[in-house]
Amino acid sequence: MVGDDPGTPCRPDLEVQGLCCKFKKRTVLGDVSLSASGGDVIGVLGENGAGKTTLMRCLAGLLKERGGRICIGGERMKPRQRTEQHYMIMQDVGHQLFAESVWDECLLSDDEAPEEAVENVLKEASLLEFRDSHPMALSGGQKQRLAIATGVLSDKKVLIFDEPTSGLDYFNMLRVSDIIKRLAGEGRIVFVVTHDMEFLEATCSRGIIMDKGAIVKQSLLATPHGPCGPPAVPRDACAAPFPGRNEPAQAGPVRE
Ligand SMILES: Nc1ncnc2c1ncn2[C@@H]1O[C@H](COP(=O)(O)OP(=O)(O)OP(=O)(O)O)[C@@H](O)[C@H]1O
Ligand SMILES: [Mg+2]
Repeated sequence: MVGDDPGTPCRPDLEVQGLCCKFKKRTVLGDVSLSASGGDVIGVLGENGAGKTTLMRCLAGLLKERGGRICIGGERMKPRQRTEQHYMIMQDVGHQLFAESVWDECLLSDDEAPEEAVENVLKEASLLEFRDSHPMALSGGQKQRLAIATGVLSDKKVLIFDEPTSGLDYFNMLRVSDIIKRLAGEGRIVFVVTHDMEFLEATCSRGIIMDKGAIVKQSLLATPHGPCGPPAVPRDACAAPFPGRNEPAQAGPVRE
């Protein structure tokens, strides 16, 4: 877990080493390594098809790795064990809303959640007025916010958001950014796949860029949050800065 002494460097809670993943014989993730600690919000960038969702599904235990290892707290985790520690909010949230009402959907994450906690989460997501609505009757952005609310209630150590702001207006993008930073402040590890540079800058403490199934660049960002405190390297000083809003991610050296 995270060290209490500010002079002690944080030991990573999550370690991924040499991860490989294939669909049939085709390698879609090759030799991916990364580490993360409670409080990290890691932005995952890359062009369509780069392997972002595949990496996240593998982390969450929804896909079995063909090589490499994923450890939590120093212990190697099999896919089924990973599903117990991770909660993934999918790119297409329509596939993960099952209940008959917004309120019941929240209880699917934690059927023992106190009423007050569910109310607070729905308020935070601006969905309280829809508590009795059917999830499928919500707009796309409202469905996304509901899926995020279920993640907040899930109480898992690692939360994965796959393009959580793709259908959100500016105000709700900021709202989701705040929710994610609060989750990190609770000591969770958060991964956020995104193409939205504004959201990335507002939300993430670190970022990785993927290309062709590999991590080609890692950077610290200047968002000052998380129990490890502000990033040691200000954004201007990063050896490998992120591309601008409309620039594609370029392959480059991996920064250790
Ligand atoms: N179920 C699957 N079966 C076979 N190939 C797959 C499957 N899912 C993904 N792939 C392939 O793996 C590669 C990586 O896909 P992935 O969905 O991880 O990309 P991504 O970076 O999330 O892209 P996007 O930005 O479009 O969401 C792609 O070439 C894709 O065709
Ligand atoms: Mg994807």
